[in-house]
This record gives sequence, C-alpha cells and structure tokens, in this order.
Amino acid sequence: MSPNLTFASEQAVYPGVASSSSTSSVAMPVSVPANEILTVQNLSKIFGPKPERAAELLRQGLGRNEIFQQTGNMVAVDNVSLGVRAGEIFVIMGLSGSGKSTLVRLLNRLIEPTSGKVVLEGRDIAPMSTPELREVRRKKMAMVFQSFALLPNRTVIENVAYGLEVAGEKKAERYEVARNVLVRVGLGSYEKLYPGELSGGMQQRVGLARALAVNPSVLLMDEAFSALDPLIRFEMQNELLRLQKEEQRTVVFISHDIEEAIKIGGRVGVMKDGRLVQVGTPAELIQSPADDYVRNFFRNVDVSRFQKASSLLSRVERGVISCDAATPADRYTNELIDAGVECGYVCDEAGRYQGCVTSASLRQCGSAPIRNALLHDMAAVSIDADLHELSSIALRQEHDVPIVDAAGKLAGVVSCRAILKQVMQRRAV
Ligand SMILES: Nc1ncnc2c1ncn2[C@@H]1O[C@H](COP(=O)(O)OP(=O)(O)O)[C@@H](O)[C@H]1O
Ligand SMILES: [Mg+2]
Repeated sequence: MSPNLTFASEQAVYPGVASSSSTSSVAMPVSVPANEILTVQNLSKIFGPKPERAAELLRQGLGRNEIFQQTGNMVAVDNVSLGVRAGEIFVIMGLSGSGKSTLVRLLNRLIEPTSGKVVLEGRDIAPMSTPELREVRRKKMAMVFQSFALLPNRTVIENVAYGLEVAGEKKAERYEVARNVLVRVGLGSYEKLYPGELSGGMQQRVGLARALAVNPSVLLMDEAFSALDPLIRFEMQNELLRLQKEEQRTVVFISHDIEEAIKIGGRVGVMKDGRLVQVGTPAELIQSPADDYVRNFFRNVDVSRFQKASSLLSRVERGVISCDAATPADRYTNELIDAGVECGYVCDEAGRYQGCVTSASLRQCGSAPIRNALLHDMAAVSIDADLHELSSIALRQEHDVPIVDAAGKLAGVVSCRAILKQVMQRRAV
C-alpha cells in the first residue's frame, strides 16, 4: 500500500547542498517542499547480517516475518517517506514493534539507514561528519525519552542546562536560559532538587525542559509520556499542546496510543510492520481509514470530537422562508403545509438565519410579525460543531438542527436521524 502522503506543490531548493544518494560526484541541491522542516524520502532500516538479501526479498514481495525466518534480518523501517511541516506536531503511531523508535532514531542518525534520505532544513544529514551530527542532535533535533534519561547526580537546573554546557555556554547564560525554560514547564521552584527527589511527571518535565533549553528546530519525543500515570500523562499532553501553540514548536511525537495521537497530533502517520500506511489529520484518519488496521485503532475510542456538522449536513430543499422579520406570520402558514414540511427556516434578505417556525407557531402568531413565531429552542449551530455537541442539542429538541456558516447563513440542517446513525455506527465499529 502506498502511503497517503500530502506534499505541497511548492518546492524549495537549497543550493549547494550535496545529495548523499546521488551516485554522481556533482553536488546536487536537495529539493524538498518549502513548508517542510524535515523530509524523509524512501527511508529503510534492515537489522541483521544480510540486509541486501532481505531488501531483495522485500522487492520480491515477501513479508517481514517470512524475511526474518529465511534470513534472520528484521525489516524495521520499510521505504518510509514523509514530511514534517514547521510548527506542527506530527505523531508517528503504531503497535509495538511497528518500527516507530527505529524511524525516530533514523531521523537524527542515532541509527544509520540501510537506504533512503533524511533532509533537515534543506540539508541532507547523510554526508555529515560526526561532530556535525553531534551538533544536529544537540541543537537541532533534541530528544525526549520515555525513561527521562536525566543525570542523577546533577540538580534539576544542571540537567536542564547540560546541553548548553556541552555547547560551551557560560554558566550565567546557561542558567538564565534553564531557569526560563523551567518556569515554562511549571518547575520554576524546583531547580535545586535532584531527579530522584521528583515524581515521574516532574522528571519528565525536566526532560522536556532540557530539550527545550537548546531551542531545537525539531523536538523528537519517543513515547515520552507512556510511562506516566494517566492523570499526569493527560497534564503533560496539555502542557505540550500549550507550548506548541505558544512557541510554534515543531514536534515529532511517537506514540502507540491512538487517543494520545489524535489528541495532540496535527497530523498522524500510522505505521504497520515498518511501513507507513497512512498520513492524515485525525479527522481524515477517522473518516477515511486506509485499511482495517487503521480502522481498528478507533474501536472503542470516542471520536465524536472529530465528526463535524459539515460532514452530516443536508441541504434544506423546501421550507426556507426569505423575508423581513416584520412580515405578518400568517402569510406563510399555508406555504409550509403545501410544501409538506414541518419546519420553516426564516432567513433575512441576506440569507442570514433568523430562526425556525412551524405551521402551528405561524398560526398562533396570526398577523403579528413573523419574528414572534420563531421557536425559542431552535438556535442555530455552527458548521464546526462536533457530533458530541450536536447530540446534546438533538436531545433537547424535536426538530432537525439548523446549521449556519461563519457568515450566519443557513448552510443546511443535520437531522436527528443522521446524528443517531453516527452515534450507533461508532459503537458498532
Ligand atoms: N538493534 C536492533 N537489532 C535488531 N532488531 C531490532 C533492533 N532494534 C529494533 N529491532 C526490531 O525492529 C522492529 C521495530 O522495532 P522498534 O522500532 O523498536 O518498534 P516500536 O518502537 O514501534 O515498538 C522490532 O521487530 C524490533 O525487534
Ligand atoms: Mg518504541
């Protein structure tokens, strides 16, 4: 299955940057989409004694397990291409063993690829020297680990300032940066404690602060919250979302948990057996899963937040009443009956929704202005409302839910039946 990738049409060419996979000795510029800070092209990693043999079997269409049985090689990452855009949280999600950790370690060459390319800010990382790579890992792609990986004999502030110390920053300067970051992750008053004196959640905040202190271009987080208690984990997810919003951080976040993935991911890439099977926004994955593997992740997951009114909308064919709100109500009584509809949607001359009427409310109103016939409990709902919101509104009223666009115009209605159907379908997945 080819991954469902989205590439911007605009291409940025970074001149003078050599391409590693080019066999020619001429330096080739690396061409990547302009909005991508990190681009991965056809990246593979095969662990084991004979990666060439395994690659050959892969080309012949053999599966990962068969290849392992025949050759003892493990295809950990198989021909992955993706682009991470500046300022987004890109989640890589998949079951345990699907290749997520290998992929994230290929991004900063903690693991050497078998084939393929990683381009960071227009630079191919393959030809980089060891000192250059070290710089990249320290400053451009700082990593936060599941196990925190703090230095136990150093205080919180020393841990956070460590990356800057290695980079040769003066003590006063690195402490100033570290203090600032500690405040940002809510640990302002803990700088003198040692990691062992902190809870797991606080230790992970230190891990996050240490990575943020170097102000990396891309933050890599491998299951960074997976070891935390559920409540602390929830808090850390919110914290990351807040930081990302405030500082436009670019984050590659690894998770095996779909609820975490759709909560924090702007886009989510789903991995299976080393392959990237789909990339999309949470709503795209939920609405059009590429296969059963992706679909099954959403079993028993509340996805109502991603089901928007816009996707459940039906047009109002009959029953739109375009008039001034001062028009006598009884003028429209027969019109609704003739049209055979229960509800009339009153819109002003500009098409803006004013409210809903029924033949009963019109009749009761008589020759008084139609505005007096509007039903009080039929407020319009935004086209961005989610299934959760729609369900609770549908519970309170007996008619279809009128939906308006950003300009306040009637976009259509969502029927109670459509809402119920979605709710039932979700349960049946
Ligand atoms: N250093 C290694 N040597 C051999 N096999 C490995 C190595 N690292 C990972 N693998 C294998 O590669 C596959 C993917 O592992 P990993 O990337 O850790 O998956 P995930 O992070 O999704 O759980 C697994 O089958 C794992 O056993
Ligand atoms: Mg892993």
